[in-house]
Amino acid sequence: MQPNKIMVIGAGQMGAGIAQVFAQSNFQVKLNDISEDALNKGIETIDKNLSRSVKKERITEQDKTSVLNQLTTTTSLKDAGDCDLVVEAVVENMDVKTKVFRELDEVTPEHTILASNTSSLPITEIAAATNRPEQVIGMHFMNPVPVMPLVEVIRGLATSDETYQTIDQTTKALSKTPVEVNDYPGFVSNRVLMPMINEAIFTVYEGVATPESVDEVMKLGMNHPMGPLTLADFIGLDTCLYIMEVLYEGFGDSKYRPCPLLRKYVKAGWLGRKTGRGFYVYDN
Ligand code: NAI
Repeated sequence: MQPNKIMVIGAGQMGAGIAQVFAQSNFQVKLNDISEDALNKGIETIDKNLSRSVKKERITEQDKTSVLNQLTTTTSLKDAGDCDLVVEAVVENMDVKTKVFRELDEVTPEHTILASNTSSLPITEIAAATNRPEQVIGMHFMNPVPVMPLVEVIRGLATSDETYQTIDQTTKALSKTPVEVNDYPGFVSNRVLMPMINEAIFTVYEGVATPESVDEVMKLGMNHPMGPLTLADFIGLDTCLYIMEVLYEGFGDSKYRPCPLLRKYVKAGWLGRKTGRGFYVYDN
């Protein structure tokens, strides 16, 4: 059965984007957060994104209104009681995620699929917190969600073929491209990307080059649209460190050792764009 009613949990950077793309594809969406303020900000972001599309004549004012009409907000998880699919995008913390999944398992109907947008936590472990591990799956959207075409679809150890097929079809209905991967630390996206970012930080740490030079080499020499240090600042240096720790712990291989300079920046509160300072300084 293709889902129709969706709940997105977490109205932050990712959750708001995920809610927007579902609403734009005619799904009925409930956006949930523990914070009213986060919900208001999430809707404000969606409104702004849609207004930009109207200005660029990609959609009409009427399209914008109908997308916003597909969206409601709630602070109660119980409202997932009539949803066919729930996509969780709360903070990257296993305790918080398993608590949410345990509660969802109680309040949603038997057929409901529970998906997580985690960028690094094991889907198999999240699934084990529920009594329906065969209906738990990773749906890893990329940032910014309305722009990026990829969804990495992660099969936990117990994820059923039926659940996988439903999510594959749903992702296509969002006009995005699903790519199937299995559940190992960092999946594919962050297992390949993060060591490159970490290595770029090592080159700065060892005095091989300045951040500007490292980014210039990768942009002009490798045709990357954004240098790895600019990208790290965009993702958030705390998130980068967290993912490196997951890879280091998960594989026990020293090639994933987080660069000491990355740790130092995170300890200093230099987290990138969101705090106004990372490898570059931003005028927030
Ligand atoms: P964020 O910090 O912008 O948003 C998280 C939201 O979750 C906040 O609004 C917070 O109030 C809410 N929240 C916390 N606990 C909650 C609960 N128990 N119930 C409901 N809402 C709750 O975080 P962001 O960047 O949106 O990340 C969310 C998830 O997406 C994480 O798992 C992250 O790893 C993943 N992700 C992040 C990407 C990025 O570039 N930032 C890219 C891909 C995935």
